[in-house]
Amino acid sequence: MRFSNDLVLITGATGHVGSCTLLHLLEAGFNVRAAVRSPAKMASVLSRPQIKALNPGPRLTFTIVPDISVPGAYDNAVEGVTHIIHIASPLASGDNRIPAEQHDEHFIRPAVSGTLNLLEAANLVGTVRRITITSSFVALVPLDELEGHRIRPANRPVTPNDRIAFNPGPYHSSFEAYAASKVAALHHAEAWIERERPAFDVVHLHPGFVLGRNDMATSYTEAMAGTNSVVLALLLGKRFGPFAGTTVHAEDVARAHILSLDLSVPGNQSYILSQDARWNDARQIARKHFSHAIRSNLLVMGGSVKTIPLPVDASLTEEAFGFKFRSYEEQVKSTVEHFLQLRLRRKSVLKRLTEADQVAIGVPQAQDLMMGRTTWAC
Ligand SMILES: NC(=O)c1ccc[n+]([C@@H]2O[C@H](COP(=O)([O-])OP(=O)(O)OC[C@H]3O[C@@H](n4cnc5c(N)ncnc54)[C@H](OP(=O)(O)O)[C@@H]3O)[C@@H](O)[C@H]2O)c1
Repeated sequence: MRFSNDLVLITGATGHVGSCTLLHLLEAGFNVRAAVRSPAKMASVLSRPQIKALNPGPRLTFTIVPDISVPGAYDNAVEGVTHIIHIASPLASGDNRIPAEQHDEHFIRPAVSGTLNLLEAANLVGTVRRITITSSFVALVPLDELEGHRIRPANRPVTPNDRIAFNPGPYHSSFEAYAASKVAALHHAEAWIERERPAFDVVHLHPGFVLGRNDMATSYTEAMAGTNSVVLALLLGKRFGPFAGTTVHAEDVARAHILSLDLSVPGNQSYILSQDARWNDARQIARKHFSHAIRSNLLVMGGSVKTIPLPVDASLTEEAFGFKFRSYEEQVKSTVEHFLQLRLRRKSVLKRLTEADQVAIGVPQAQDLMMGRTTWAC
């Protein structure tokens, strides 16, 4: 149930998952306060065409939290807040390899202290009814299974109630450090709730690899950042991996965050956001939807990403939230469509396509722009 005086604090709204979630919050009519690191980050959110189109006015405000790791970081941010969505946490991806000596400082500290500071602040302010924390499937699965060194049997799927031991390091890769940061944040949050027994409860959401249009990306190189880079690099001819075959559409992740604010969804509970995927199916999907881009060499079919089979049971989520996850095909389509739209902003690239192919890809034509028509969802 939503009331007009509800106020949602969101962290991480400058990222892939957070920007999509912010749009869904505003579209659902919530009053939102976004915690960002700097005024420049606030400006980048406000400059997004999708936000401008919604014209949220006073329904969207900001609070600057320069360092989420320092004690009391969120004490001012939670003033008057009824719900919190905590998404901000360092992500590991191909484009941000962190040196081993910085793993603790970069991944573990902000993930754990950021979460605990938020829980402490919410407890002090006393108005918060629910906190949703964006965890990850990596918080539930042992590393050797994530990396394919051990194959998880199909009859023992990952479930939301699985818990694994925290690995204190040293870590051999940024991905291992990232996975440990998500395990640590989950453990600390659950222990804190158990110990403090606050007036609010917590929902932990555990997405698989998130795919789909990233609205914070304003150039095709930015669109290549984060987890979309797996699909895009594959479709640009790269051979790498392996990666676990568990993915989810950014739209579904955003939708689950909004639905999780409803107190009829049981709290102090984990929910997995995932459906099975075979990474290399992206090639067939590209042939089906973007043959024009293949013809113009904007996509290249020689790439390959090996899939590690990882059985996952996300049925509790579909039951509690009442929706079915979008397919891998829809995820790939959304990711590639946005990439091509950004890529085709370069005139030299655009010239390689006929007008009909441009329309097929979704490049806005002069008449769309004049009419102010935007058909791109988040
Ligand atoms: N992408 C996936 O496949 C995936 C899968 C499962 C779970 N998740 C979780 O979803 C969340 C968001 O991921 P994403 O894909 O949206 O990543 P993203 O695009 O890199 O966004 C990360 C967000 O977290 C903020 N952030 C990162 N480190 C921070 C720090 N030290 N202090 C303050 N803010 C920090 C970033 O703020 P700045 O803009 O200021 O850097 C940004 O808003 C993370 O909790 C991640 O673990 C992601």
